[in-house]
Amino acid sequence: MNIVLTGSLGNISKPLAQELIAKGHSVTVISSNSQKEKDIHALGATAAIGKLEDRSFLTKTFTGAEAVYCMIPMNLSETNFQNYMHNTANNYVQAIKQAGIKRVVILSGWSADLIKGENIEHLFIEQLDASITIMRPGAFYTNFYFSMDLIKGKGFIGKYLTLRYSGLMALFKGRTGLLMGNYGGEDKIVFVSPKDIATAVAEELIELPVEQLKIRYVGSEELTCNEAAKIIGTAIGKPWLRWVRISDKQMLQGLKMAKMPQELAETMVEMQSVMHSGKPLQNFHRNNPKMGKVKLADFAKEFAAVYNQK
Ligand SMILES: NC(=O)c1ccc[n+]([C@@H]2O[C@H](COP(=O)([O-])OP(=O)(O)OC[C@H]3O[C@@H](n4cnc5c(N)ncnc54)[C@H](OP(=O)(O)O)[C@@H]3O)[C@@H](O)[C@H]2O)c1
Repeated sequence: MNIVLTGSLGNISKPLAQELIAKGHSVTVISSNSQKEKDIHALGATAAIGKLEDRSFLTKTFTGAEAVYCMIPMNLSETNFQNYMHNTANNYVQAIKQAGIKRVVILSGWSADLIKGENIEHLFIEQLDASITIMRPGAFYTNFYFSMDLIKGKGFIGKYLTLRYSGLMALFKGRTGLLMGNYGGEDKIVFVSPKDIATAVAEELIELPVEQLKIRYVGSEELTCNEAAKIIGTAIGKPWLRWVRISDKQMLQGLKMAKMPQELAETMVEMQSVMHSGKPLQNFHRNNPKMGKVKLADFAKEFAAVYNQK
């Protein structure tokens, strides 16, 4: 099959491309960065360099494909996150329609239908004449990387946010060796390895019988946040590591002090607050998916290797 993947060589798309190529499929990977071209070719895929915001580029890249995998990257430089999600999803919908794609797998999240505002899944479902699988994974193991500096006591969460979390740290008077957020503590969360998501997406794209519409929850291990913190902590020699839950108000205050735009901060607080409500977990249990193979202790070894290098 000719398959187009978005998400570059990211957490899901890289193992996904590898799996599809190993099974003999022809894969095109979209990246916004021309420097990734070489690495994409090295996997055995074709690189398509351009931005998801560019609808004509998307349409051109999708044309001739039999299936596409669509994800919406986090973009924390967008002050209006809802608009950004809507516009990116809409670009996908228009490009899929114009290219006449009949098989689409969309990356969503396990709380997509629980968050106020527009659920972008509907944009695809209502407008496309294609068979659609919506993937609803839990919380990625790779999120722990964003807390690495916080665990080290540097007082900020890196990569995505690149905003100093000095506000949150100030609330905790410089206490270090913590994970924190407005979900945490004894909240039960379904954590997931992006590798398990990649396997599930590959199954949807090439193996399983095609359905008109399917919603698939994906998880690797259900744990309380403190159990997860202990697994990560043990791998880095800090078995006492805890994951402190702060209130929505404190979280918002911390993000504001860190100068995150108001609307974005509110969206982030809401997204995490839903995790604390336990409702995504109820949905997950109701759907009862088979858990993936990669456990948090496996990921913790990778995390520790990166942690010890930094
Ligand atoms: N974190 C969670 O717990 C969680 C839970 C549920 C769902 N999700 C979803 O999962 C997504 C992340 O998936 P992932 O971890 O596999 O991705 P990822 O590792 O964050 O990689 C995404 C890649 O997309 C590319 N990209 C960014 N902006 C682009 C643009 N404007 N045009 C084209 N390409 C662009 C970037 O690579 P280049 O620099 O090469 O372009 C980026 O590395 C989130 O955005 C969210 O929608 C996350």
